[in-house]
Amino acid sequence: MDVKELTVQCDQNIKSALEGLNTTGLGILFVTDNNNILSGIITDGDIRRALLAGKELSSAIKDVMNLDYTSLPVDTDNSVILDAITNKVKIIPLVDVAGKLVDYASINKIRRISVASPLLNGNELAYVTDCIKSSWISSQGKYVREFEKIFTDYHGGMPALAVSNGTVALHLALDALGITKGDEVLVADLTFAASVNSIIYTGATPVLIDIEPDTWNIDLTKAEEKVTANTKAIMPVHLYGHPCDMDAVAAFAKKYNLLVIEDCAEALGSFYNGKPVGVFGDVSTYSFYGNKTITTGEGGMVVFKDSAIAERAAMLRDHGMQKTKRYWHAEVGYNYRLTNIQAAIGVAQFEKIDEFLAAKRHIAKTYNQTLARSPYFQIPAEKENTVNSYWLYTFLVNESAPFKREELMEYLNNTGVETRPVFFPMHQMPPYLNFGKPEDLKVSIHVSECGMSLPSSVNLTDIELNHICNSINEFVKKFE
Ligand SMILES: Cc1ncc(COP(=O)(O)O)c(C=O)c1O
Repeated sequence: MDVKELTVQCDQNIKSALEGLNTTGLGILFVTDNNNILSGIITDGDIRRALLAGKELSSAIKDVMNLDYTSLPVDTDNSVILDAITNKVKIIPLVDVAGKLVDYASINKIRRISVASPLLNGNELAYVTDCIKSSWISSQGKYVREFEKIFTDYHGGMPALAVSNGTVALHLALDALGITKGDEVLVADLTFAASVNSIIYTGATPVLIDIEPDTWNIDLTKAEEKVTANTKAIMPVHLYGHPCDMDAVAAFAKKYNLLVIEDCAEALGSFYNGKPVGVFGDVSTYSFYGNKTITTGEGGMVVFKDSAIAERAAMLRDHGMQKTKRYWHAEVGYNYRLTNIQAAIGVAQFEKIDEFLAAKRHIAKTYNQTLARSPYFQIPAEKENTVNSYWLYTFLVNESAPFKREELMEYLNNTGVETRPVFFPMHQMPPYLNFGKPEDLKVSIHVSECGMSLPSSVNLTDIELNHICNSINEFVKKFE
């Protein structure tokens, strides 16, 4: 809505203000003098009080307007505006240096603080331009090789294959390992659907396991009772960046002779016992979706312990074509290739990995300090001998809190802060009903109902971070 529609002049009468309020429906009008200098505001409530105090519909607006209002200079930074917007002050007039009304800000008009947006201010554009100028835009090219080498080096020499997203990375991993119809794969009930879908693609059956109450990762004590003669693999998912207990996973896998597929989609930069996640599994996978710690738009990576499995996966990634015999397809494979352009973005993103991870830790530390002051929240874990990369800062609203998670989410939404609920438990959704029973998956249900994520983008400014923390504090204060 244009600011003119929200403006009345001070010598107009109350009736015209009421008409204006009725048409615009925002509950507020800005009052200006003859020179368009902002002189006050008028709301439904101001008029109601004025009429009750004996004013007439014909009385001048200047006699009843509200002089106690917030206005800001028109060039104010978005994050400062966001800070000024509260549950009481939802619309703020913006003025020029002379005090003239120029525009207004409201939560719907300014940039909202998103949960996770990418930062592409490094060499991304230069490397993509290089692809275009050299015409290496498809899945062959130096950036694909370089991106794979970066992951090989990061994982202590393990072969790596770039693929088109994190979902096919998982499918390729399972397929290359020979997981197939009749097999069962243990996986946490609380994860993104891709983990479970990829198992179903192979024809195998996912077996949904409850999670630990602190790390929200697969609970091996619960997995024990689900092992059968058909169990072939376990897929630990490092949820929201907290590493699974990989020593325990290794011992479990050894005991039951299982393959391990690490889903590291949310955990690039997380460490367990001083080693990066991804080095523990028989095969490990990553996602580079736009909200991930590093992104290629869409993209993924598969990392292998065994080079023979890596070779088989490379063949499957390229329609099952034999490396030594072009256009000879030994097996039905897929086109799961990543393009050189996407890999170019990935190479540039990885150059900034340390900076990104430091930003995530700074964000998590700030939220932890704010939330830990209140008895209403369970902050995310960072267990001994682990480094949580805090991909997406996620916490629980305790059941004993005098408010529901949804109320806090709504409050934050009204102050321009996007939040995200935790995933639904997989077993509750139609395609997965047969893979787990609610009575076995109580922690997953609890975390799903009480968990929420806060903005965690690496380009979140301190002003934005303070705004989010202030909004949480303001909300909590209502219950003290
Ligand atoms: C745990 C987990 N696994 C797998 C994926 C799939 O990755 P993609 O979206 O790149 O297919 C995602 C994320 O999006 C994820 O969060």
